[in-house]
Amino acid sequence: MMSFERVGIVGAGMMGSGIAQVCAQAGMSVVLMDIHISSLEKAKHSIEWSVRKFIEKGKLKENVGTILKRVTFTDSLKDMREVDIVIENVPEDVEIKREVFKTLSRIVRRDTLLSSDTSAIPVTELAVVSRYPERVLGLHFFSPPQFMQAVEVIRGVVTDDDTMNKGVTFIRMVGKFPIRVERDVAGFLLNRINFPGTIEAIRLVEEGIASVEEVDAGMRLAFGRKMGPFETGDMVGLDVMMQAMMSTYQETKDMKFYPPVLMQRKVKAGHLGIKTRKGWYEYNDDGTRKT
Ligand SMILES: NC(=O)c1ccc[n+]([C@@H]2O[C@H](COP(=O)([O-])OP(=O)(O)OC[C@H]3O[C@@H](n4cnc5c(N)ncnc54)[C@H](O)[C@@H]3O)[C@@H](O)[C@H]2O)c1
Repeated sequence: MMSFERVGIVGAGMMGSGIAQVCAQAGMSVVLMDIHISSLEKAKHSIEWSVRKFIEKGKLKENVGTILKRVTFTDSLKDMREVDIVIENVPEDVEIKREVFKTLSRIVRRDTLLSSDTSAIPVTELAVVSRYPERVLGLHFFSPPQFMQAVEVIRGVVTDDDTMNKGVTFIRMVGKFPIRVERDVAGFLLNRINFPGTIEAIRLVEEGIASVEEVDAGMRLAFGRKMGPFETGDMVGLDVMMQAMMSTYQETKDMKFYPPVLMQRKVKAGHLGIKTRKGWYEYNDDGTRKT
């Protein structure tokens, strides 16, 4: 039985820093790696800020210093030598990810699990460039990882049962809810179910049938969701969501996954959501929505 005391995270952007925080709050020691020092500095600040919020709300008993002490910030992959599991969170680009897996699998121990938080790249494509492809799996978190409970545990074509079972155990250990996905189909499970609904919502708005606000309110109030599809889109990032829809479309050739023109234009215009202060809605500098 593996203990998962040390976790390696590659890529300290929005997802990587959030997942690092989740693991540190679960008591694990974390090596957080990024090629950009500026990303590491930003990650440190955002973890500090977010942990403080957890403490203020009474959701965390430990203090900020204790949590931060568990995280080592580094720009070298070599520091992954002793970790029990790696979660890769570099940009959604197959070449960048393959390079990371190739290098990483020559640094880590034989029994280390290698996982990717990719939204749409097949796990198998990353496994085949790795030294021990049977130890590679998908661990797909949802944004923001500090709050979203579901994590898809995805089996690539060559992932073995032991790796899948350990992936499930790890996700439970960090306080999340594992959803087993037994094949690495495009879009995996949850996005695959959710994308067509989001695309239909965008089309209905595009056709002037209803406004963004009406659709979101309706979806919240009729189906008990916390957020409507446009609110989710702004939080995830329209560019990130569009890219994941496009990869799902490219693999399936099914128009139900094709991102509508309105979404494509908004991405072109740089209206990407909360991160650019403008997406489906407009935001203040602190990320709150303009009324
Ligand atoms: N944003 C979401 O809602 C979401 C949800 C689930 C999964 N994902 C997936 O998570 C991954 C990361 O997404 P993000 O939104 O955090 O991206 P991001 O752009 O915020 O962060 C990516 C980080 O990777 C770093 N990086 C780039 N090349 C690197 C390399 N070779 N080695 C190490 N670090 C490198 C960058 O400096 C950056 O800090 C993507 O695969 C994305 O599809 C995103």
